[in-house]
Amino acid sequence: MNENRTQIKPYEYMEYFMLDTANLVSMGGDGQVNVMALLWKTIGQLWMIPTITVAVAPSRYTFELLTKGVPEFTVNIPSPETAGSINVTGALSGRNTNKVERAGLELIKGVKTEVPTIKGSLLSYECKIIHTCQSGKMASHHLFFGQILTAFASNDIVKK
Ligand SMILES: Cc1cc2nc3c(=O)[nH]c(=O)nc-3n(C[C@H](O)[C@H](O)[C@H](O)COP(=O)(O)O)c2cc1C
Repeated sequence: MNENRTQIKPYEYMEYFMLDTANLVSMGGDGQVNVMALLWKTIGQLWMIPTITVAVAPSRYTFELLTKGVPEFTVNIPSPETAGSINVTGALSGRNTNKVERAGLELIKGVKTEVPTIKGSLLSYECKIIHTCQSGKMASHHLFFGQILTAFASNDIVKK
C-alpha cells in the first residue's frame, strides 16, 4: 500500500498539529477500532518524554476504550481530503456505529502500537498511555498522557 507519508520527529510540522480538530483513534480489547473528533489536545514533554495529552469526557465511548481496552491511542490531523470525517466522528458514538466505515476512513496498521492510524492524515502520532488524571474543576474531562512512540507526516507537507 502506498501510504504517501514519511516518519518524522515528534515536534516537527507543529504548525499543522495546531490546526483545529483531530481524529483520536482508540481500540477495545476485542480489537474494535473507534474514532472520535478531538479538539482538546496538547503536545509537549512529561518527565522529559515527548507526549501528546488528550482530554476525553467520561461519557464518550472512547473513554471506555482508553480505560478498559488497549492502553494506547493515535492522534491524526486531518487533511482537506479527510476533514469531512469530523462530521461523523464528532457527532455519532462508536457504541452503536462503526464510524470508520460510516466516515469512509482507511486505516494503516500501527507501526509501534496496536491501534491504527488514519490514511491521508497530514500528521499521525502513535502513543502509549503513561499517565492519566482528571482535568480539574473547569471540566469533566480526563487527561490521557500518551508517550509518542512514532510520528508520520504526509508527503504533501514534508519539505523536500
Ligand atoms: C469539533 C469537535 C471537537 C470535539 N472535541 C472533543 C474533545 O476534545 N474531547 C471530548 O471528549 N469530546 C470532543 N468532542 C465530542 C466527541 O467527538 C463526540 O461526543 C463523539 O461523538 C464521541 O464519540 P465516541 O462516543 O465514539 O467516543 C468533539 C466534537 C466535535 C464536533
